[in-house]
Amino acid sequence: MIHNQLSLVNQAKEVLQQNWTGKATKPAPRLYPHQWSWDSAFIAMGYAHYHQEQAMQELRSLFRGQWSNGLLPHIVFRPGLVGAYFPGPDYWQTERSPHAPQAVATSGIVQPPVHATAALHIYRHATDPAQARAFLTELFPKLVAWHQYLYRDRNPEGNGLVYIRHPWESGQDNSPLWDAVMERILPDPSAIPAYQRVDTHEVNISNRPSNLDYDRYVYLMVKARQHDYHETNLRADCPFMVQDVLFNTLLVQSSRDLGAIAQILHHDPAPYLSWANQTANSLNHKLWNSQLGLYQNYDLVAQTPIAVKVAAGFLPLYAQVPDATQAATMLAAMHSSGFRFNQGWMIPTCSRHEAAFCHERYWRGPVWINLNWLLCQGLRHYGFVHEAANLKAASIELVERAGFHEYFSPVTGEGLGSANFSWTAALLLDFLMEESAVRPLQRRA
Ligand code: GLC
Repeated sequence: MIHNQLSLVNQAKEVLQQNWTGKATKPAPRLYPHQWSWDSAFIAMGYAHYHQEQAMQELRSLFRGQWSNGLLPHIVFRPGLVGAYFPGPDYWQTERSPHAPQAVATSGIVQPPVHATAALHIYRHATDPAQARAFLTELFPKLVAWHQYLYRDRNPEGNGLVYIRHPWESGQDNSPLWDAVMERILPDPSAIPAYQRVDTHEVNISNRPSNLDYDRYVYLMVKARQHDYHETNLRADCPFMVQDVLFNTLLVQSSRDLGAIAQILHHDPAPYLSWANQTANSLNHKLWNSQLGLYQNYDLVAQTPIAVKVAAGFLPLYAQVPDATQAATMLAAMHSSGFRFNQGWMIPTCSRHEAAFCHERYWRGPVWINLNWLLCQGLRHYGFVHEAANLKAASIELVERAGFHEYFSPVTGEGLGSANFSWTAALLLDFLMEESAVRPLQRRA
């Protein structure tokens, strides 16, 4: 490894060490002081390369917050930090659900399922196979319960396309994907409890979601708690229900990885592989747009596709959902439809041709390292090695120039949002160390 890459590896480890709370890793020093679900999965994949104990602890800590119906919450709150983050446990009121854990405070929504993928990643980089196998044995039933929850409670059409019921469940909080749906939501001000944002004290307010966005986020949270988090009742009344491409793509890969874990543990992988196939087929049947060369979200309330071009529309490459012909169409679209692939800083979260594009605003244009990391793997699957190499090089260069930021301007390369962001560090570590020893998948410990 060349000298400056070694120094970048050390800096990344330092970021993670600073965000380590003793039990888990905060996504960022102040902006996100608790434990977040998909962040922790990415973070664990970084630790897997050099600190297996901490990688396993990261996931164990998250699963302490799992509900008895399998729901894996998007936040597991650290005790004693009242007021450090909005909305906190007093707003979520998860005690209204008979399924929420009593000993741990959590939110009442989920985030994309990357956890089986992270657990398998830990196993495949383990230096102590017996310990790694014991870890998989411990986590397997929890992962199964998590996926069962999604396929049982979030799959109303029975086609394996699960829905999200809050923009935060997508991980792409204020993406233009949600604009049309959110604009329909006109909450009566009396339906929104008084609240104080905390995020705007930490980073430039103009980059963050607007106050009106926040009112709607809070309104959707209140809806869920009014129904005591009873999914069937909530579904009949929820104004936001979307089949999201990114979420379902990660579910395909994670279900496949759950199958691989089952195989390692000598269980039958068939149920998990069948989930993965069903979701992949439905992504192709329902969400593929051959004219645009990308996959599109579907609004279940308005019963209409969401026609916004975002980078997440290319992510099914990561889970090998498209066939080779579709993949070639997607690559052409990446070059031509406002993503300016291979020029400038890649890959903007939203097409530059969209009216909503803004190079500095959170999920409305900026580059995020997790999307680059996922897409890079997707490009490799189809032999687009040149594009994949460029995307990896751009990700490394962005961080080298600007630091371990939360997101980056695709126009100037400037680092934006929080500094010292954990998943930027963890996934950069994976980029830099990915050639290190990997346990072959078929091997039985
Ligand atoms: C923001 C991001 C979300 C992430 C969280 C913690 O809310 O949109 O994806 O999980 O921050 O980093």
